[in-house]
Amino acid sequence: MNKENVLDKLKTINYPGFSRDIVSFGMVKDVIVDEKAVIVYLNITSQNEAKKQEVVKNLKQVLSEYFVKVSIEISGDAPSQAPPIEPQQQAHPAILDNVKHVIAIASGKGGVGKSTVAANLACAMAIQGKKVGLLDLDIYGPSLPIVLGLNEQPEMTQDKKLIPLEKFGMKVMSFGFISGNETPVIWRGPLVARMTEQFFRDVKWGELDVMILDLPPGTGDIQLTLTQKLRMSGAVMVTTPQDIALADVRKGADMFRKVNTPVLGVIENMSGLVLEGEVEGDVSAMTINGENVDLDNTGKFSFTMDLFKTGGGKKESERLGVPLLGKIPISPEIMSATDAGVPVAQKDPDSSLGQLYHQIAQNLLSSLD
Ligand SMILES: Nc1ncnc2c1ncn2[C@@H]1O[C@H](COP(=O)(O)OP(=O)(O)O)[C@@H](O)[C@H]1O
Ligand SMILES: [Mg+2]
Repeated sequence: MNKENVLDKLKTINYPGFSRDIVSFGMVKDVIVDEKAVIVYLNITSQNEAKKQEVVKNLKQVLSEYFVKVSIEISGDAPSQAPPIEPQQQAHPAILDNVKHVIAIASGKGGVGKSTVAANLACAMAIQGKKVGLLDLDIYGPSLPIVLGLNEQPEMTQDKKLIPLEKFGMKVMSFGFISGNETPVIWRGPLVARMTEQFFRDVKWGELDVMILDLPPGTGDIQLTLTQKLRMSGAVMVTTPQDIALADVRKGADMFRKVNTPVLGVIENMSGLVLEGEVEGDVSAMTINGENVDLDNTGKFSFTMDLFKTGGGKKESERLGVPLLGKIPISPEIMSATDAGVPVAQKDPDSSLGQLYHQIAQNLLSSLD
C-alpha cells in the first residue's frame, strides 16, 4: 500500500450524515505510509465530537485491514473565534442519500441505443435481485414511456413528492410521465437544470441498490448539473462502431473525466448484424459478401455481418483505459421488444441477447462492489 492506495481507501469513507467522502471534503491533510504502519492527518473543523469519533472508527476499520498500526491525528485549525464550519455550508447537501450506486448511461449523440441499453440493464439488475431505479433524464425526448410501455401519471404525496411508477420490479420516472397538461406547476420550471434536480429531490425513490440514469445525448446542462450535484459511481458510454459516433463519445467521456466521474466502460451497440440460417442439400462451403461462413454438420449457420466498421468500441475503451463491457448486435428482436414496451432482458432473459445484457449488468455490479 502506498499513499495513493491509502487515499483511494479513504475515499470510501463518507463524512457522517453526508454522501460525500472525507477526501473530497478536503479533510485529509496528509498520509504517511510505512511498511506496516500508517499515519493519517485529518483536519476537521466541526466541533461535533461524535462525528469525529465516527470518522476515526471508520478509518481504523478500513485501514486496519492493510496495516498493523493505524494512527490518526486530528486538528481543527479554523481560527478559534470563528464558528466551526460544518461541511454542508461548503458543499452541496446530500441527495439520493439512500441510493448505493448511481450509474449514468451516456452517449455523445442521440439514436445510438442509450435508452434501450439503460432499460435492458435496469431490467437485468432487477431480475438479479437488486432494488433498481430507472430515471429518464432526456427531457426533450423521453423514451422510457415507450421502452417500458408505461402510460400513467405518477401520484403526488401530501408534501408534494412524486411517487415513481413501478414496472418489472423497479421504480421508474421520466419527464414523459409528467409532461401532460396536468403537470404540477412546480415541475414546469424554465430551467432544465432545476428540473433535473427536482427529479432527485422531489421524487420518493426510497432505498435503492442502483439508480440507472438515462441521460440525454451530449455534454449539455443536464450532464453538468448532475456532476455538480450528485455523487455518481460512474458513467457507461454507449457508442455505435462508426467513427463519428466515436468522436462524440470521446467528448462525453472526457467531460466525465474532467469532473472526476469514472468511466466504467464502453458498450458498442448496433455492432454487426447476426444472420442465422440453414442450408439444405449437399452444401459444403458458403460465402456471404465474400467471407466464408462456418456451416455446422446440420447445415445451420450463424454469421455476423459488420455493417459498420468494427472494433471502434474496443479502440475507444483502450484509449480510455476502461473495459469494453459488451458488443450488442443490431437485432430486429431488440428493436421490436423495445417498441413493444418489454425489453429483451426482461422478456427473454435466457436468450443469447438477453444473456448479453445480463452479463453486462453483472459485470457492472461486480465492478462497483
Ligand atoms: N441493438 C439494437 N438493434 C436494433 N435496434 C436497436 C438496437 N439498439 C437500439 N435500437 C433501436 O434504435 C432506436 C434508437 O434507440 P434508443 O435507445 O432510443 O437510442 P437513444 O436513447 O440513444 O436515442 C430505437 O428504435 C431502438 O429500438
Ligand atoms: Mg434515449
